[in-house]
Amino acid sequence: MGVIEKDGKFYPDEEFKSKALINSYEKYQEMYKRSIEDPENFWREMSEELFWYKKPEKILDYNFDTQKGKVFHEWFKGGYTNVCYNALDRHLDNPTKNRVALLWQGEPDEDVKVFSYQMLHREVCRFANVLKKKGLKKGDRVCIYLPMIWELPVAMLACARLGIIHAIVFGGFSADALRDRIQESGSKLLITVDQTLRNGRKFDLKTNADDALKDCPLVTDCIVVQRTGSEIPWTEGRDTWWNDEINADDISNFCECEQMEAEDPLFILYTSGSTGKPKGQVHTTGGYMLYVYLTTKYIFDLQPESTFWCMADIGWITGHSYIVYGPLLNGTTSFMYEGTPLWPAPDRAWDLIERYEINVCYTAPTVIRALSRQGEEWPAKHPMKSLRVLGSVGEPINPDAWKWYHKNVGKENCPIVDTWWQTETGGILIAPLPGAWPTKPGSATFPFFGVVPRSADPGVDDPSKLGQKMPPGEAGHLCMEKPWPALSRTIYGDHQRWIDTYFTQFPGMYFTGDGVLVDEEGYHFLQGRVDDVINVSGHRIGTADVESALVMHDAVAEAAAAGMPHEIKGQGIYVFVTLKMGHEPSDDLRKELVSHVRKEIGAIASPDKLQFAPALPKTRSGKIMRRILRKIVENKVDELGDVSTLEDSAVIEELVKNRLG
Ligand code: WT7
Repeated sequence: MGVIEKDGKFYPDEEFKSKALINSYEKYQEMYKRSIEDPENFWREMSEELFWYKKPEKILDYNFDTQKGKVFHEWFKGGYTNVCYNALDRHLDNPTKNRVALLWQGEPDEDVKVFSYQMLHREVCRFANVLKKKGLKKGDRVCIYLPMIWELPVAMLACARLGIIHAIVFGGFSADALRDRIQESGSKLLITVDQTLRNGRKFDLKTNADDALKDCPLVTDCIVVQRTGSEIPWTEGRDTWWNDEINADDISNFCECEQMEAEDPLFILYTSGSTGKPKGQVHTTGGYMLYVYLTTKYIFDLQPESTFWCMADIGWITGHSYIVYGPLLNGTTSFMYEGTPLWPAPDRAWDLIERYEINVCYTAPTVIRALSRQGEEWPAKHPMKSLRVLGSVGEPINPDAWKWYHKNVGKENCPIVDTWWQTETGGILIAPLPGAWPTKPGSATFPFFGVVPRSADPGVDDPSKLGQKMPPGEAGHLCMEKPWPALSRTIYGDHQRWIDTYFTQFPGMYFTGDGVLVDEEGYHFLQGRVDDVINVSGHRIGTADVESALVMHDAVAEAAAAGMPHEIKGQGIYVFVTLKMGHEPSDDLRKELVSHVRKEIGAIASPDKLQFAPALPKTRSGKIMRRILRKIVENKVDELGDVSTLEDSAVIEELVKNRLG
């Protein structure tokens, strides 16, 4: 009926395999080998599954070695295409034009909107004409600050159609975070909404947008979607309603696609790191398009009739790639849900799967853990027979959550694809092909075509071993030996930072920031971040972001953030704060600082624990010893390791003594 368990491994059965696109390890090996040994021909052949105005001349050119000159990679040079054309126009022949492209369910049950490919095409063309009318053209940036409403994919695709670079900011980010991203990207237009709906309540978004726009002189237009109809502040001359724009008499139903060079940027998406301000990852037209198309197809083993539900928010890369671009490029039906899976009842998600006969469900371990806490009786009410493949993304999936998902959601019939990737990587790099080999709980298994991962020796014990392959069963640092089409090209406006961040620690390779263990059979087990990035509910929060928000507060002298184990979120945020002279620790101040971080970044970055400390552990050269803070936060005080470089070891005793449990 789908999956057979044997010796702790989960095999696709004959029935599953009979329909699978790739149904044996041998078949995968044959394709994988070719993708590595003959990338030119492999990727050229793959690229022919999509439409090009002009076929690429050169498939790949790259240098990953800082010693040999500038680090770069380029794909499909000389090729011209358009992502929106491939996602929509390509499907406009009969009968696919009437297939459902986007199936949108609002939080209130009665809010449903269904777009066939033809209808979505029309809507996107109209909105593209609106953008044109505003004077926007190829290469301009548009910032989109919207919740999970259907206008969001329409706006994205309209940008792609015209070669306008979209920069989407997750609706949960604060006004300040939005302002920084608008400014950084040089956006000229903002698209937002009056209010968002969440768990039956309304939240202002337009007021945030207004706050952000106070300091964004470049933005001359703000298009506002009406979602709730509540009274909102309005700036005449700048703000206009989405509906008025799109329904204007001079807006036609067709808009020509811009012919884009393969390396032209498609979008910028900001992500955090352990240092500095958020990095604007630049993803390009040809490479990103082909890679998300292929990964969606093979990893979720798309069938002609698939209805695909990725539960992520489009404000993150997962939603860009696997709600919008990947499914639509494949001509499948993408189901999009406005609300959260726990509201109005803990079986909301299961009910929707049942109602719309969802075939692929792609979510995050944090969601699985939160849902599993509600009890097995909720999924038990729903047979969910339509499900065929389950996906997981965002953080390592603990075997308990994996098994719960397998048993209660997949009813032991659906392969689980644990997909490892990052904002930078554009698409999934390591994941099972569900019909091709057995899975093991907690393992993302093997690399996708073109991807050459290495568990690299960090060179700590023996610097001469830096970068060498770790033996099976021993954890190393995850690097990529070769480029693949969807790897980001640069950090917007700062190519050197892209090189410094990803290509300097391990010469000649892309460094992911993650730890990995490869077992005797070659299965990859991801171990979480090895740097100071915190993974909260599958979302990346930079320690630097949290710390710089805190030190902006008058009372704070220094701050250090670290990830703490958290039952639902995977990791929570633990911060240590030292105060300036004249300020005393208090519960009120603690609350104030926590809400200060929320205001600066957004609710997702809210510290879970805040410990006041008289001092932070530092090396003699004044660097905060994060390794030690991490151990304290993880309650592994017996593993503090070498503290000999520490300036004052009494500081640690103090921190341990007052640790918040
Ligand atoms: C980091 C990237 C790309 C999807 C959403 C997150 C962690 C992601 C897995 C997985 C273990 C995972 C890594 C990675 N991560 N997927 N299947 N198993 N860890 O994107 O915000 O760019 O974060 O998420 O630590 O580096 P992101």
